[in-house]
Amino acid sequence: MADESCVVVGAGGISRAWFPPLKAEGVKVAAVVDLNIDAAKERITNYDLDAEPSDDLDATLRKHRPDFVADLTTPEAHAEVTCAALEAGCHVIGEKPMAADTDQALRMVQTAERTGRMYMVSQSRRWEPHHEAVRRAVADRLCGRLTTVNCDFYIGAHFGGFRSEMQSPLVLDMAIHHFDLARMFSGADPLAVYAHEFNPAGSWYRGDAAASCIFEMTDGIVFTYRGSWCAEGFQTSWNGDWDLVCDAGGLRLRQDQPPAACRISGDEGFIRPREDVPVPTVEMEHTTMHGALGEILAFLRDGTTPQTECRDNIKSLAMVFGAMRSSREKRRVEIAELLG
Ligand SMILES: NC(=O)c1ccc[n+]([C@@H]2O[C@H](COP(=O)([O-])OP(=O)(O)OC[C@H]3O[C@@H](n4cnc5c(N)ncnc54)[C@H](O)[C@@H]3O)[C@@H](O)[C@H]2O)c1
Repeated sequence: MADESCVVVGAGGISRAWFPPLKAEGVKVAAVVDLNIDAAKERITNYDLDAEPSDDLDATLRKHRPDFVADLTTPEAHAEVTCAALEAGCHVIGEKPMAADTDQALRMVQTAERTGRMYMVSQSRRWEPHHEAVRRAVADRLCGRLTTVNCDFYIGAHFGGFRSEMQSPLVLDMAIHHFDLARMFSGADPLAVYAHEFNPAGSWYRGDAAASCIFEMTDGIVFTYRGSWCAEGFQTSWNGDWDLVCDAGGLRLRQDQPPAACRISGDEGFIRPREDVPVPTVEMEHTTMHGALGEILAFLRDGTTPQTECRDNIKSLAMVFGAMRSSREKRRVEIAELLG
């Protein structure tokens, strides 16, 4: 059993993915806070928790003094909730995206630094064995040196709720996963972006539900992203379809199947001969939210820095806001403009 205690803030849809791993790890959930206290009560009942329902975050944190807060609120509320928790002396694991704009995100990072508390963002898709296998294959140069990364994402998702009203639902609420995966796979950071967001005819979203983006990354790598959340045709998986072009071969991810790789096997011919190469598989004890939870628990236990701690994760978020600025101002945007 774990010794740690937490307060969960936000009892909406995604909280269903968090209570099972919190229970499995034996973390004491002292309280569930939501503006809608009935939602908090419902989760406590559903998951049979010995926790207090509340709609008053500050009073709850003063009363329970948890080791960490799980911020599962909507993106617009993350800065307020996470900063309040950090100021109260708690570490925080928060849902993606870190914040709804760069000023909020910078304030959150500064608050974590000033209070000396850990703030990590759960980018759940990092904790997937196929994704970690790709990261290692690229780092080990299984197919040579990475030059080009492409991701396609097409899903027709009929959510309703806050996403229907957001200005940039695809880029802010979904593409953050893919942009963060591009950084994870490549080990490269963003330098500049040119993006075009649009809302295709027939869209059921108010804001732009589709985008095409070209990122210039460190090491000369180019990452191209094409995505739509209102694509009623052939669907990719939620993780997207990926091609990683290297200077001696390439890697490919399709429909959540194990990654495929090929490598040139000779240096003659108009098209060089190539052969399939196995990608070493990765065993992962816990995936998605459970994987993220494992990293905040490891931090609490032995100080290991989570891979998505806020100073790193803000670079993935900057890809989001860079793409949005580029699209609105119809120009190439340098990422340094956003992070100062
Ligand atoms: N990792 C993933 O794959 C994944 C999937 C879905 C959602 N998410 C993320 O999880 C977050 C929540 O999404 P959701 O689908 O659960 O949304 P939701 O609207 O279903 O739930 C959000 C809850 O937060 C509460 N809330 C909002 N502001 C609050 C505040 N200031 N204090 C306390 N409670 C507050 C709302 O009342 C609501 O109950 C978002 O950031 C979303 O992007 C992540």
